[in-house]
Amino acid sequence: MRLITLDRCQTGMKLGKPIYNENEKVLLAKGTELTDSLIKRLMLLNIYTVYIDDELSEGIEIVESIPKEIHLEAVSVITECLDTIAGPNLDASNIQGMIKTERAIRSFKKIFKDILSYLTENRTALNLLATTKAHSNHVYTHSLNVAIYSCQLAIENGLPLKKIEDIGMGAMLHDVGKMFISPEVLNKAGALTKDEYEYVKSHSELGFDLLRKIHEIPLTVAHCALQHHERVDGGGYPRGLREDQIHSYAKILSVADVFDAVTSHRVYRRALLPHKGIELLYSGNGTQFESKQIQLFKDCIAIYPEGLTVKLNNGTTGIVSKYNFNAVGRPIIRMIKDEEGNEIKPFEIDLSSVENLTLEIIEADELLF
Ligand SMILES: [Fe+2]
Repeated sequence: MRLITLDRCQTGMKLGKPIYNENEKVLLAKGTELTDSLIKRLMLLNIYTVYIDDELSEGIEIVESIPKEIHLEAVSVITECLDTIAGPNLDASNIQGMIKTERAIRSFKKIFKDILSYLTENRTALNLLATTKAHSNHVYTHSLNVAIYSCQLAIENGLPLKKIEDIGMGAMLHDVGKMFISPEVLNKAGALTKDEYEYVKSHSELGFDLLRKIHEIPLTVAHCALQHHERVDGGGYPRGLREDQIHSYAKILSVADVFDAVTSHRVYRRALLPHKGIELLYSGNGTQFESKQIQLFKDCIAIYPEGLTVKLNNGTTGIVSKYNFNAVGRPIIRMIKDEEGNEIKPFEIDLSSVENLTLEIIEADELLF
């Protein structure tokens, strides 16, 4: 299986993975043969890449970071929880509302425990590119992705379970304030005006004001919503806090938040590939983000995920066949083209054990640009 851009898809190619619609229902099943009209329909849904099964990539598996069942349940729990707690009339006099909130938070804690125990038992390099889906209301899926990244990063930090749980909850709720921002502004395709930008920025304080009033939610979790856009050099918002003034949970969250934002498609721009996302984090090393968090995060994610086409510095081309957990930049590559770009009989090389250590990936397929 390999990942290709939709504009390179041809009639007759077979889908290697299902494509989901924005409600997480299967739109096209694995094995579906693509036709011109299907390709056009997928373009209209703003799907830029798909996994295909072909002879060249036979045997290359794309591993989901968390099982689909847990993913589906998590999205539905997050949706229900955000809708409930940001719903109307949530105050102490609204008994029904309080009961609903308590119930939503209980199921919320449970699903996070499931995610956490899966990640702890199955140490893997996270690859959230592994699911192809149409544009969704990204607050829900973004919240889940940030929770998965933050949880893994909290594990890498060696934090105790209770803190990891709080960070996970903070991550799932960090953007709850966006429920109060009008979708027209939030999903605007062009640049925001100065006023619109200030309005969007208010989501961190709106989220904090909401969460701190909910009895079941620890205050540190509310602070995740308040501080996730603070930056270590004081250039963030809403308060321009610096270094140690920023809560350690928010420093973890900000790395996960930015990485997911730039590696996901938005109506106003296409996604970056993971290695470009990491490069972008490094451009804010020590100024926007704490260095230690970027270092640790780099080891949490699949920088060159399986199925990606890459070019090596000797001019040859291959497909990432298997990720090397202990050598993040040096996966196993299935070579498919020689230096001149001619197709060759595929063979595999393990970049982590080749003698010639100057051999390295210089470019990943410009899939998402
Ligand atoms: Fe945010």
